[in-house]
Amino acid sequence: MLYPEHVIEEVREKSDIVSIISEYTTLTKKGSSYTGLCPFHNEKSPSFSVSEEKQLYYCFGCGAGGNVITFVMQKENMTFVEALKYLAEREHIKLDKEYLSEEEMAKNHKRLQLLEILKESAKFFYFALRDESHKDVLEYLTERGLLMETIKQFGLGYSPSAYTSLYKYLSQKGYSDELLLESGLILKSQNQGMMYDRFAGRVIYPIFDASKKVIAFGGRVMDGSQPKYLNSPENILFNKSNTLYGLHIAKNTKSDYFILVEGYMDVIAMHQAGFDQTVASLGTAFTPLHAKILKRYTKQVVVLYDSDNAGKNATLRAIPILRGAGLKVKVLQLQGGKDPDEYLKQHTKEEVEDLIKQAPSDIWFKVKYIESGHDMTNPEERVKFFQETALMLSESGSSIEQSIYIDEICKEYNMDVEVFKAEMNQHYKKVSHSKAQIEEKMPNHVKNVLNNEVLFLATLYHYPQIGKRAAEHLTPNMFAGKLLQDLAGAVFEALKTGVDIDMNYFTAKYPDAVDQNIISHVIIFKDKRYEESLVLQKMVAENIKRINKEYLERSLKTTTDPNELQNLLFQKKELDKLYIDFING
Ligand code: CTP
Ligand code: MN
Repeated sequence: MLYPEHVIEEVREKSDIVSIISEYTTLTKKGSSYTGLCPFHNEKSPSFSVSEEKQLYYCFGCGAGGNVITFVMQKENMTFVEALKYLAEREHIKLDKEYLSEEEMAKNHKRLQLLEILKESAKFFYFALRDESHKDVLEYLTERGLLMETIKQFGLGYSPSAYTSLYKYLSQKGYSDELLLESGLILKSQNQGMMYDRFAGRVIYPIFDASKKVIAFGGRVMDGSQPKYLNSPENILFNKSNTLYGLHIAKNTKSDYFILVEGYMDVIAMHQAGFDQTVASLGTAFTPLHAKILKRYTKQVVVLYDSDNAGKNATLRAIPILRGAGLKVKVLQLQGGKDPDEYLKQHTKEEVEDLIKQAPSDIWFKVKYIESGHDMTNPEERVKFFQETALMLSESGSSIEQSIYIDEICKEYNMDVEVFKAEMNQHYKKVSHSKAQIEEKMPNHVKNVLNNEVLFLATLYHYPQIGKRAAEHLTPNMFAGKLLQDLAGAVFEALKTGVDIDMNYFTAKYPDAVDQNIISHVIIFKDKRYEESLVLQKMVAENIKRINKEYLERSLKTTTDPNELQNLLFQKKELDKLYIDFING
């Protein structure tokens, strides 16, 4: 733990969750809590609830939830410590550096040193590019169509081909070899132990984080040699799966959509043309984390990858990831297998803008993609086309979307709507539909944590009469993981004694945002479906049985004591009886 519990507690208690959240959405008092439109998802009627007493928030629509610290973390894109500091400052609470553990201090110190090295190197590369002796490099970039202004905006540079120029420069500034190696900019040769510049002879593309700090570099050769690009290795500053090239500029765009491209030069050329909402993942696959980051800044993403096969496949991979984060997706494929950088050499911004306007939705892109794999004049191939399209559609989108696409597709390809629906229905039977529909509405991070146990505990807590009875058939250690066991303990205790859950304990002990989401779910989420007492009884009885069974099975696998084994087997046999007992009260 970074800060002692009492400090976190003080910050949390002094920060008024209602007034802080009110800066993001309008809250109105309703009974013991406040409600408003959820600041985490788009909605027309309020399903977001804030409990002043418990200092928690929870959205019944999207499942977002937590305490004041996690709220700031998520809305302002801050780490736990950053959010804590931000809130402490607002409440004039002094946070001393001493609170950091030694390990954390050392890590912070190293991070700062590495940032300094990268900043120094970026400057070094920047000036090297402008040095008379490297005129050819600047020519290479201007010949590729870049204006000086753009080169400056992206901080492009050059790493001189003499293999030790950067090394010498940084060494003279006093940085140790160890630190330079860790920065990823300097390498040590295997046989002679010589220190040399990783990017020597390459054009340099600094990679910035969202706050405009240089965290890594990409380097491109100027001839046809391999590899074309090199990137900094990952370290405590740089993580490819959460870095988007161009985000430091794109995050301030006025556009209501983002454009996702494949490469450095695509981002730069798009920005130069006036598309300041363009970003790229760094030569690696597009990850759910990338999508989650984009979701903070926009609601819609236009995927503009190369229109070659590799680009098409990458697009097909990116679509579900973007959708999974709740983003609307369109796909633009430029004619002639070109990437956006090349395309913009022969076309204007307005032309590309028009193409974006006309670009098909992700689902239409998939339909066309499926079509391209079939000769539509051949009846057998047509059958396959419809089968594949029906399967694809049954797996994508909400039911409203599906219904709209069914009509559109059938019209476009002259197919009977009922026949097409029947084909789709065959696929529904294979997937558990209602579950998929419920989950679709939830953001990914919520899906991962809201398993049965969490929902079950929430129900016991909110329906105390039955909860009390259920608690007699359960023990906290039957639940999975430390947090749920702790929560179950607290819920059972509250049911038994009427003493409510100690929120301070849970905030301090589980500061992680995902954990806080679970906690607020249990404490705030009351599932109205269970107001119907028969439904409630059945659900509780089934869960008691399931949890006991799973627990016994786990124990049976691990126990070595024969007496214990005997006992467990007996309990297992009794399970069905327990279920009946419970139902009958
Ligand atoms: N890439 C990489 N390493 C390589 C090749 C590519 O990291 N050896 C990454 C880079 O981020 C690059 C992106 O993948 O920008 C797309 O690659 P590619 O289409 O080959 O390059 P372009 O971006 O088109 O670059 P250029 O126009 O300079 O050739
Ligand atoms: Mn290119």
